[in-house]
Amino acid sequence: MEHNKASASSNLNKLFLFFSFLLLPCSASAACAQVDRASLLSLAFRPPLNWSSSTDCCSWEGVSCQQDDDDHRVVRLWLPWRRLSGVISPSITNLTHLTHLNLSHNSFSGPLPNDLFSSLSSLHVLDLSYNRLTSHLPVFSSKTTRLETLDLSSNLFNGSIVVPASAAAILTTFNVRRNNFAGSNPISFLCNNRNNHTSLTILNLSVNKFTGEIPPGVGACSKLQVFRAGFNYLSGYLPGEIFDLADLEELYLPGNRLSGHISKGIVLLTKLKMLELSSNKFSGPIPSNIGKLSRLENLLLSINNFTGHLPPSLTNCANLSTLILRFNHLTGDLSAFNFTTLPRLTMLDLGNNNFTGELPQSLYSCKSLKAIRLASTQLTGQISPEIVALKSLSFLSLSINNLTNATGAIRILMGCKSLTTLVLTKNFLLEPVPNDENLAELDGFLNLKVLALGGCLFTGQVPSWLAKLKNLQALDLSYNLITGSIPGWLGSLPNLFYMDLSNNLFEGGFPTELCGMPALTSKETGDHKVQESFLELPLFVKPNNATNQ
Ligand SMILES: *[C@@H]1O[C@H](CO)[C@@H](O)[C@H](O)[C@H]1NC(C)=O
Ligand SMILES: *[C@@H]1O[C@H](CO)[C@@H](O)[C@H](O)[C@H]1NC(C)=O
Ligand SMILES: *[C@@H]1O[C@H](CO)[C@@H](O)[C@H](O)[C@H]1NC(C)=O
Ligand SMILES: *[C@@H]1O[C@H](CO)[C@@H](O)[C@H](O)[C@H]1NC(C)=O
Ligand SMILES: *[C@@H]1O[C@H](CO)[C@@H](O)[C@H](O)[C@H]1NC(C)=O
Ligand SMILES: *[C@@H]1O[C@H](CO)[C@@H](O)[C@H](O)[C@H]1NC(C)=O
Ligand SMILES: *[C@@H]1O[C@H](CO)[C@@H](O)[C@H](O)[C@H]1NC(C)=O
Ligand SMILES: *[C@@H]1O[C@H](CO)[C@@H](O)[C@H](O)[C@H]1NC(C)=O
Ligand SMILES: *[C@@H]1O[C@H](CO)[C@@H](O)[C@H](O)[C@H]1NC(C)=O
Ligand SMILES: *[C@@H]1O[C@H](CO)[C@@H](O)[C@H](O)[C@H]1NC(C)=O
Ligand SMILES: *[C@@H]1O[C@H](CO)[C@@H](O)[C@H](O)[C@H]1NC(C)=O
Ligand SMILES: *[C@@H]1O[C@H](CO)[C@@H](O)[C@H](O)[C@H]1NC(C)=O
Repeated sequence: MEHNKASASSNLNKLFLFFSFLLLPCSASAACAQVDRASLLSLAFRPPLNWSSSTDCCSWEGVSCQQDDDDHRVVRLWLPWRRLSGVISPSITNLTHLTHLNLSHNSFSGPLPNDLFSSLSSLHVLDLSYNRLTSHLPVFSSKTTRLETLDLSSNLFNGSIVVPASAAAILTTFNVRRNNFAGSNPISFLCNNRNNHTSLTILNLSVNKFTGEIPPGVGACSKLQVFRAGFNYLSGYLPGEIFDLADLEELYLPGNRLSGHISKGIVLLTKLKMLELSSNKFSGPIPSNIGKLSRLENLLLSINNFTGHLPPSLTNCANLSTLILRFNHLTGDLSAFNFTTLPRLTMLDLGNNNFTGELPQSLYSCKSLKAIRLASTQLTGQISPEIVALKSLSFLSLSINNLTNATGAIRILMGCKSLTTLVLTKNFLLEPVPNDENLAELDGFLNLKVLALGGCLFTGQVPSWLAKLKNLQALDLSYNLITGSIPGWLGSLPNLFYMDLSNNLFEGGFPTELCGMPALTSKETGDHKVQESFLELPLFVKPNNATNQ
């Protein structure tokens, strides 16, 4: 904007007008138009709002007005989180001056009035998210040319979506996440303003039943910052046009049937912070130049068919916080990857790949790590003492690898004071179960809730240090070669409610103490399950189960 002294007084006037406009809705003389008052009353919200007590509807809760000629017209109806239920009455279409309508987080049900969009042609903002609205969306009329923000997420709308070019041109936010919309991808309407570029910045189509490919034309949505269409039935390739979206920060497409290779063109998305393509059918290598995405924070590509090595350039993504690549066919020596340059890494899951080598020593310099899952990746070697530098480490799963030195591992990990979940299933084959006298004196694992040491073919007796784990909820020692008797003190662990000791070589009877296990006999029996809130990553415990990987 350009300013000069000559315009200063006119700016002052504008400022004055601006403030008096702000004051209008509160001023005592303002009285709302009869038609608006009548429409509001016939909305008949349930439960009723405290509305009729004053004749001036502009002072009613959630209502704001603006002067229009001699009348004060209702421009804003803002009633989120009011526990309102029932159908949204067609009377709402008589509030023809409405610009902002927010009825989100209520319990409205049934269809919307058919002429909603044609009657409320001044609407800028429409937020009906988090209700139980059903049926088809009313048709966008050619008069719907002011709507900038549309949020219909978390409802039960169905049918397909058609947006005329006139409306598409002005929309900046289009959020229909979590509905039952079907049919072809509305991108073909939203990004196809007769070859004119659109204003759309946030597009959220996730959790619906959209089918077909990501249509051509998506490149015309050149202002797009967020593109989310996860958990639909989208198929085909990622079109090259997506890489024209230079402002894109989030590309979120998990849970579809997308396939093909990820082109190196992805590095054109220089503002990308999140790339989430999990649970698709992508194949080929992770682009070797991916390190050029220097703003990348979240890279999630799990459950696909990616092959090749972890690209060394990834170490340039210094902002990386979540790296989830589990269930692919990645190969290579993991200890050759240098994690040192990823200080913000919080979640790491590279499990169920074909990596080799030892646990990378450089990983221990990622001080922000809260969760590590490197299960089922053919790792060899030992856990090294440097791991205690990971002060926030809460979740560690290294199951189904070829690690050795169980006693050393347990002694070291007892120094990781934040650990709540430790899964070492199927390692340390035929070693003695860690059971040194002094392990019990280390006061380790005081926060541990889940401990899985199954399928290791451990020999020896149930270790006595387990008796100190007062927070333990789940213990798996199955599929070992543990001998001796089942100790009665297991029954006094106050929070233990899941214990698998099957397939061992125990002698003697089942100790009666176990029948009195506090967590099992408490009133809430049956409600017990491992609280997922503290699990940073998915957990697979049982060693005899094929999904345990
Ligand atoms: C209803 O609104 C009137 C006027 O705005 C106010 O004085 C009164 O306290 C309100 N009553 C309740 C129960 O909120
Ligand atoms: C809208 O207002 C008109 C005139 O005031 C009235 O006749 C009509 O019934 C109203 N429509 C609805 C749906 O309330
Ligand atoms: C509607 O109200 C809710 C609750 O205050 C708010 O979170 C949401 O951002 C509002 N919607 C819009 C589009 O501003
Ligand atoms: C859409 O929802 C309405 C109301 O729940 C239902 O009657 C109709 O059959 C649904 N249509 C489709 C195509 O699912
Ligand atoms: C394209 O946009 C320009 C500028 O916003 C406008 O003048 C023109 O009419 C638009 N063309 C079409 C076909 O919508
Ligand atoms: C849709 O996407 C936006 C932008 O990423 C995100 O903030 C939002 O949580 C998503 N879901 C809903 C229901 O808005
Ligand atoms: C990976 O590729 C194989 C062979 O082409 C195929 O059978 C399998 O379904 C693919 N997996 C995924 C997750 O796409
Ligand atoms: C790992 O490699 C082996 C042998 O090449 C192959 O049989 C197996 O399917 C691969 N596993 C994964 C997860 O790629
Ligand atoms: C890893 O990178 C850091 C920082 O760039 C460097 O100092 C270190 O020598 C590297 N380590 C290995 C094993 O290459
Ligand atoms: C890991 O252990 C399995 C089972 O004992 C063995 O078949 C495999 O060869 C070992 N792999 C490595 C890399 O040592
Ligand atoms: C096992 O680990 C402990 C602790 O790191 C170490 O002191 C010990 O030497 C290791 N034992 C073997 C056989 O490597
Ligand atoms: C593994 O466990 C899951 C969940 O409990 C079960 O659905 C599946 O059938 C099991 N698989 C095998 C091979 O036992």
